Amino acid sequence: MNVKYDFSDKTAVVTGAASGIGEGIALAFAESGASVAILDINMEKGQETAAACEKLGVKAKAFLADITSEESLQSAREGVLETFGTVDFLISHAGVAKVPGLKTNPFTPPIKNLPLEHWEILMDYNLFGAVRVTNAFLDILKDKKDGKVVYTASVAGLKAGSKKPHYHAAKSALINFAKSVAQECGPFNVNVNVVNPGWVYTPIYENLIDVVKNPAWGDAYKDCKTSQEALDVMAKSLGTFLQRSQSVESTAQAYLWLCSDGARELTGQTINVDSGWIV
Ligand SMILES: NC(=O)c1ccc[n+]([C@@H]2O[C@H](COP(=O)([O-])OP(=O)(O)OC[C@H]3O[C@@H](n4cnc5c(N)ncnc54)[C@H](O)[C@@H]3O)[C@@H](O)[C@H]2O)c1
Repeated sequence: MNVKYDFSDKTAVVTGAASGIGEGIALAFAESGASVAILDINMEKGQETAAACEKLGVKAKAFLADITSEESLQSAREGVLETFGTVDFLISHAGVAKVPGLKTNPFTPPIKNLPLEHWEILMDYNLFGAVRVTNAFLDILKDKKDGKVVYTASVAGLKAGSKKPHYHAAKSALINFAKSVAQECGPFNVNVNVVNPGWVYTPIYENLIDVVKNPAWGDAYKDCKTSQEALDVMAKSLGTFLQRSQSVESTAQAYLWLCSDGARELTGQTINVDSGWIV
């Protein structure tokens, strides 16, 4: 990527930054000179991300933070303030597309077959997780009347999806929640926006090859051997205008831009970084 930002006097907090898109976001901020706080439940990988950021010449540290626990986020907040002194960019990115611990979403429509417990877990991670992250950090940005918040939802939040209705509903709720935060933050000069990634190959898709072999997915995937290939077929066959899936790096660019002065008049908005699917 050759777009340059100078965030050398800024500190970014990124949840879910140990892996996947979140790791890419952390590295993109580090490349732009920002100090980076990596908040994740996976400390081993979080520390690897922090080390990779430090190699780019910035201050970075991993903090144990579970978005399903207010106490855990409170303790991460204390660690972040002790280490960095402030927060300028709050990237609430951690979320899950399936119940943690399950290999796939073991669900066949109709919707009544989906256990209520699975609904509760996906709402807890994808909506309440973002609410908890917001509650833990937003006052820092509001107090200094300066800052940016970016939530990661998903294109799933704008579309129906009978295979994962709980995920679609949770991300949809998150998109709306972000608008309320944007309204509250307007008088405090804090911009609040949402990025909807589309089809980005990360560990979230590592079992996709098993999923698409289910006859319910039809013949389109019969020649696929890896999950990465299956994701490319999926992005094309779903009709993305650019006929491709997205990379972690290209997706991370949207977060940088939303935190830059170039996006200073954007708030309460949702950007689909999906190669032209939601159009
Ligand atoms: N990959 C895609 O194509 C895609 C598309 C749309 C939206 N998203 C969204 O992007 C986000 C991350 O997806 P990804 O593909 O990078 O996944 P990923 O599995 O690579 O990364 C998720 C990260 O979140 C962390 N995490 C999990 N539970 C946590 C918790 N309780 N507290 C803190 N951290 C936790 C994991 O340890 C991991 O580091 C999710 O919100 C997902 O819904 C991804």
